[in-house]
Amino acid sequence: MTRICVTDAIPEPSIARLRASGHEVIVHDGPQPPDRAELLTLVEGADAVLTVLSDRVDAEFLEAAGPRLKVVANIAAGHDNIDLAACAARGVVATNTPGVLFDATADLAFGLLLAVTRRLGEGERLIRAGRPWRYRTTFLLGHSIEGKTIGLIGAGQIGTAMARRCRAFRMSIAYAAEHPMREPARTELDAVGMPLDELVASCDVISLHCPLTEGTRHILDAGRIATMRPGAYVINTARGACIDEHALAQALASGRLAGAALDVYENEPEIDPALLGLENVVLAPHLGSANVETRTAMCDLAAENALAVLAGRPAPNALRP
Ligand code: GLV
Ligand code: GLV
Repeated sequence: MTRICVTDAIPEPSIARLRASGHEVIVHDGPQPPDRAELLTLVEGADAVLTVLSDRVDAEFLEAAGPRLKVVANIAAGHDNIDLAACAARGVVATNTPGVLFDATADLAFGLLLAVTRRLGEGERLIRAGRPWRYRTTFLLGHSIEGKTIGLIGAGQIGTAMARRCRAFRMSIAYAAEHPMREPARTELDAVGMPLDELVASCDVISLHCPLTEGTRHILDAGRIATMRPGAYVINTARGACIDEHALAQALASGRLAGAALDVYENEPEIDPALLGLENVVLAPHLGSANVETRTAMCDLAAENALAVLAGRPAPNALRP
């Protein structure tokens, strides 16, 4: 019997779908995600594995799974946790779940933008700490986003969905990306492409929507952060390592940047202590795609990819090394 391993609890209908195809399905169901040793034991003898972004899929993982393994279906758009070359070398197909989570992630990015510019985190902490407050004309004033320019690093589906939200709030849209934003969005949103350095130095808000690759690791490094406009904001719903987190914390602590709202971290789930102490930072625990509808769609798509490969069909979302 072919075996499908799922490294994290997923919605029951997605599991039922995997079982319905006659495969043995093993789901990790501990209160915590499997640690490395548990993960390597769990995947032993699997024909297919559904993974999440905290599972490192490398030569060691593939070796532990063994020669039956045909497909690793990542339940995520990002796939920086997967060594695609190592998969290819063993003839293992790796897949992701694009096209089903861009709205959810843009919703969160836009929510973070409002939260940080309107100082929602500070207000919440103040109330919950039982500190006295009153409506005052100059109390806890944030900044308007209307008429400001958002600078998107990455203009794929998520960046474009973010641009749509920002445009609806009358922001101007600029972006830096390998490929121009797709039409008709680019024209509809009046989105202006520009070189990265110019974007970082000129926009009121920088929001990251790029995958993590060797080319985007620390794409917002100390040098670029130093060129940002005083009073600018940073939003990150991409991957933590796209930003030099410590350099960002310093720019926020010094007051040169007005604020940051982050959903992802360099050493997730660890967070740089320098960030934790700052009032002008909104911190979310990697919730970009975390709504029931989206996570269900992601799990279904990952299941579909795994089942396709097991049935000898091409995977709809096969990744190329
Ligand atoms: C979430 O971070 C994803 O890549 O889907
Ligand atoms: C604010 O609460 C207002 O009424 O202007």
